[in-house]
Amino acid sequence: MSPVSVTAPSSLLRMADLDQTAILRLLDRAEALRTSGRSSWPRFDRSVLGLVCFESSTRTLLGFESAMARLGGASVRLERPRMAGVMSRAESLEDTMRVVSSYCDAVLLRQADAGALDRAAAASTAPLINGGNGADEHPTQAIIDLFALRRRHGRLEGLRIGIAGDLVISRSAHSLLRALALFQPAEVRLMTPKGRGMPVAYRSGVACTSLSRLDVEGLDVLYMAGLPAGRGRTHLGESARRRFQLTMSAMRRLPATAVVLCPLPRIDEIASAVDAEAQAGYFRQSGDALFVRAAILESVMEEA
Ligand code: CP
Repeated sequence: MSPVSVTAPSSLLRMADLDQTAILRLLDRAEALRTSGRSSWPRFDRSVLGLVCFESSTRTLLGFESAMARLGGASVRLERPRMAGVMSRAESLEDTMRVVSSYCDAVLLRQADAGALDRAAAASTAPLINGGNGADEHPTQAIIDLFALRRRHGRLEGLRIGIAGDLVISRSAHSLLRALALFQPAEVRLMTPKGRGMPVAYRSGVACTSLSRLDVEGLDVLYMAGLPAGRGRTHLGESARRRFQLTMSAMRRLPATAVVLCPLPRIDEIASAVDAEAQAGYFRQSGDALFVRAAILESVMEEA
């Protein structure tokens, strides 16, 4: 995978672990898997993937499990970490990772605590794949997003890209923006409710404009990063939610050649009527993710 960081060999923790060449290699391999018959997929028939989920997941968990199965390998899951209770104490993350990684050829980790990733990577003896660490990064999702962009537009460079939603907490948007910085976008338009803008740490190397409304005119790509459903600090009032929802009325201003992408899940960020529009690309994006995840697994396990 040509990692450029010094973390565990062939681990994929953040977008900074991949340079442009490594990303293009993954996308090309995913495209080859998409267009080839399943019987030609390489076999990893004695390989095991560990799936450690301290936070819920549908796509990342089942997507990697399915990709591993189609590569001929097997998966083991730990979805509920050992919790502290009357008769037991919580096991440390480090001990859990040490044990799980000793059973597996690679480990995928989904963690609510952003800062736990490096501790987990240091303890893991197998390559670690970050399947989303809190509100920090989600690099495998960003590679999936780039695959969908390139499949629609045939290129990654020079695109006019809008990213809408709560960009303080969107780990997918953080990794995507870091990835886009490698491909010279013509425009990056960040559209967020007040106080929910993209943190400076993720903007390095890419010029962005910021808006506090949804403006889809002239875009090649509209990335709907999501609006939180939570209460308390992440709660958004109804009027703020409505201003950032992609409705059929907003779709009329989106160019016919554009594509709408979304990491999913959606709550009400995209009206269900949009699903039938030619620009709606999020379910194909989600389906094609299987090929991207298989390419990532191959790369990680071949280089381990
Ligand atoms: N896109 C994504 O990460 O979805 P899940 O939370 O279902 O894994």
